[in-house]
Amino acid sequence: MNVLDIAKKRYSVRTYEDKPVEKEKLDKILASAHVAPTAANLQPVKLLVVQDKERLKSIAKAGNIYNAPLAIIVCADHSKAWKRPFDNKQTTDIDATILTDHMMLQATELGLGTVWVCFFKPNVIKREFQLPDNLEPVNILVIGYGKETPADPERHFATRIPMEELVSYDYL
Ligand SMILES: Cc1cc2nc3c(=O)[nH]c(=O)nc-3n(C[C@H](O)[C@H](O)[C@H](O)COP(=O)(O)O)c2cc1C
Repeated sequence: MNVLDIAKKRYSVRTYEDKPVEKEKLDKILASAHVAPTAANLQPVKLLVVQDKERLKSIAKAGNIYNAPLAIIVCADHSKAWKRPFDNKQTTDIDATILTDHMMLQATELGLGTVWVCFFKPNVIKREFQLPDNLEPVNILVIGYGKETPADPERHFATRIPMEELVSYDYL
């Protein structure tokens, strides 16, 4: 399957089987994060892989992870952040998000369901996982075997803004 086919196939899964994700699949998902680009290759990211049921409950105190068997908390490491010199913009959120997207698409290719979660209380994650001050949880990628009827890969014509609204060529 090519990248566009995988991107079309992906949808947010919010009901999961009570079935663990195989180690080989998890390893491949993590490998896809490992090769992701980051600004100046500084790699200001840390992945917290959570599979233990008690630890998953700790995440659920911060936000809904839909009883999935696996969640990866994608943290920005501000101690390694690159800053754009012109306006001091830190790219940690961007770096963390590229890793998350790589993992999400890889999981899709492996036949797994995912949902990207940002609706969580960062202070609760920091407390439950005793994160040091430099680590900020940015995204939580929820992964598992979906229990839902798969979404139509051609749904985007109806669920996304039209191409003409999204794209401007030679914008003035
Ligand atoms: C940055 C980001 C944050 C999101 N946060 C949540 C969330 O906290 N909870 C949730 O159920 N879905 C969340 N989503 C999933 C979106 O609601 C979903 O991707 C969007 O509605 C499009 O649907 P689709 O993924 O099925 O194509 C998030 C997606 C993104 C990209």
